Amino acid sequence: MDDRPIGMFDSGFGGLTVARALIDLLPGEDLVYFGDSSRYPYGPRPLEEVREFARQVTAELVDRHGVKLVVVACNTASAAALELLQFSFDVPLVGVINPGVRAALSATSNHRVGVIGTVGTIASGAYQRAVHSHRKPVQLTCAACPGFVEFVERGEADSDQVHVLAERLLDPVRRAGVDTLLLGCTHYPFLARTIGDVMGREVVLVSSAEETAFEVRNLLEETGLVRRSASKGTRRFVSSGDVGWFADVGRRLLGAEVVDVEAHRWG
Ligand code: DGL
Repeated sequence: MDDRPIGMFDSGFGGLTVARALIDLLPGEDLVYFGDSSRYPYGPRPLEEVREFARQVTAELVDRHGVKLVVVACNTASAAALELLQFSFDVPLVGVINPGVRAALSATSNHRVGVIGTVGTIASGAYQRAVHSHRKPVQLTCAACPGFVEFVERGEADSDQVHVLAERLLDPVRRAGVDTLLLGCTHYPFLARTIGDVMGREVVLVSSAEETAFEVRNLLEETGLVRRSASKGTRRFVSSGDVGWFADVGRRLLGAEVVDVEAHRWG
């Protein structure tokens, strides 16, 4: 039993999709969410820079907030840094790439799977490697979607412009005839309506959120880190950007759990 909180982070609001699944599956756990909003987007940055950001945020969660486990709720940071973080910190770290791949591979019937993500994630080859490691006869089509994250961060998930952009960026996965599209960026479930409209009803959209939450639950149980008390857990939110904006948009995206947002300033 371990009463320390679970830590999680993303470049901004995207990880809230994973937070939703974690809160729903593990309501008794305390949670600290860190949105590195002053440095989003991570997607276009060199992987070494994202790796350093991920190390700094993880250190903040472990050293200052005393978390017992860290969820890297960002595909770009998982692709760039998960192995390094697992090597560098004493707490267990869970990424979002392998859970997403597991969910996509069990959803496909025609064995044609699409993955969309940031430029950094797609260029890293992390999805290609993760799918390959399952040794299944799957045809994988990957497409980077630069610009999607910015729409979510600006609170414009439903605009006409994002639809126009989606028509263009999703063209390769549409033409590949995929029956399953893995949303390989934690921001993208907030654009699911637009992405679903463009892909058509016969394509299943898969996010890594639920599967990641199950992985966290299994890990807590296996390692004896489950919280002792049966009462509802607390949720804390920290942002390195504008905390008022994070509270406003965060509440719209996640729900009433976002009450106060604490500020973090990088020195
Ligand atoms: N949510 C992050 C991801 O899953 C977005 C990265 C970004 O800030 O560009 O990749």
